[in-house]
Amino acid sequence: NKYPDLVVVGAGLFGLTVAQQAVEHTGARVHIIDVRGHIGGNAYSYFDEETGAEIHRYGAHLFHTSNKRVWEYVNRFTGFTDYVHRVYATHDGVVYPLPINLGTINQFFRAAYTPAEAKAVIEQQAGELAGTDPQNLNDKGIQLIGRPLYEAFIKNYTGKQWQTDPSELPASIIKRLPVRFNYDNRYFRDTWEGLPRDGYTKWMERMIDDPRITVGLGVDFFDEAQPYNKKALKEAGVPVVYTGPIDRYFGYELGDLKWRTVDFKEVRYDEGDHFGCPVMNFSDADVPYTRAIEFKNFNPERRDSQNPDRTVVWEEYSRFAERGDEPYYPINTDEDRKLYAQYEAKAKAEPNTVFGGRLGTYKYYDMHQVIDTALTAYETQVAPLLNK
Ligand code: FAD
Ligand code: NA
Repeated sequence: NKYPDLVVVGAGLFGLTVAQQAVEHTGARVHIIDVRGHIGGNAYSYFDEETGAEIHRYGAHLFHTSNKRVWEYVNRFTGFTDYVHRVYATHDGVVYPLPINLGTINQFFRAAYTPAEAKAVIEQQAGELAGTDPQNLNDKGIQLIGRPLYEAFIKNYTGKQWQTDPSELPASIIKRLPVRFNYDNRYFRDTWEGLPRDGYTKWMERMIDDPRITVGLGVDFFDEAQPYNKKALKEAGVPVVYTGPIDRYFGYELGDLKWRTVDFKEVRYDEGDHFGCPVMNFSDADVPYTRAIEFKNFNPERRDSQNPDRTVVWEEYSRFAERGDEPYYPINTDEDRKLYAQYEAKAKAEPNTVFGGRLGTYKYYDMHQVIDTALTAYETQVAPLLNK
């Protein structure tokens, strides 16, 4: 048989985790293909020669989890730095800490409110739309945190994310807007967080460092000129784990699932440090990008190998994805969810094929969630196919 025991489509964290588990538990021979020229999926990163910064090619990635199984699993392949994620926002020429907390509130109102006083002020301001049932995001935002904070920190940022005025967005996009009535601006609330010590790509290379795992890059599952294509594998009865877009698998026959994407614009500065932090949000409409990432600042422990005089920043511009764009955030309207359910039913009926990951299940997953679902999918869906 010229084929391996399992073919994995997509070298992202879902595919790599399943491949690693298959080899570890059954000694299977696994071939991974990816249409891109590198492994790692959207968590891929590379080192920038000029500055020494680790650039997260598909947007800033921060690892965090409270899931013990996942934390133990990832620590088999990499150590983590003690990085703690914090975000700042520029509004009207002043920098504030996020998420909105007592520091933000007191700075914004030039006050010295206690937690109880701040709570009372926000409640009073939110009372503007008390007793109404907001239908659009703008009214919903005002009802949640009051007009002043909503308009300063949420309104224009959200408008840029969706390229739509919030008064024309459904209220359902936001369920809640967290406000912290203390000075804690630690972004994540998880038990563990950090960045992979020698970078994301090294971590993921170690996951598949085994002679029984082979990788084909620049290989498209739907290209029938290459041997690991959908049609040929189906005919040969080879088990497949598919982590590409589920609508693409079925030739978009029921329609396209909708996504948002992000365009990145790289800017370099003749400075060692431009923002003084890794993530700066821009809350106002006059700056066209939503936020800027200064990658050097994710890894202060690497100062000795970074250029002290130059820095690199990526500005993020958000927009709706067309076919051919990188799909990043599922839009997830009721219509999308109905369409996904129809594709999901077809996927369940597809013999010898397991659908997984963010594209295969049309879900926004953080890395730890993707790894957790991959460990479970291996046990419940992939192992039974290998033991047949
Ligand atoms: P992917 O990483 O997308 O991998 C799927 C792979 O399949 C891709 O490499 C793709 O090229 C390949 N593929 C698709 N179609 C084909 C085909 N036809 N043939 C061959 N190969 C194909 N998570 C966090 O935990 N923390 C964060 O801070 C964070 N930030 C994020 C920021 C952004 C902008 C985005 C988009 C995501 C972020 N995530 C974050 C989520 C994280 O990227 C995902 O959880 C994870 O990368 C998903 O892994 P995956 O294997 O499911 O999918
Ligand atoms: Na299936």
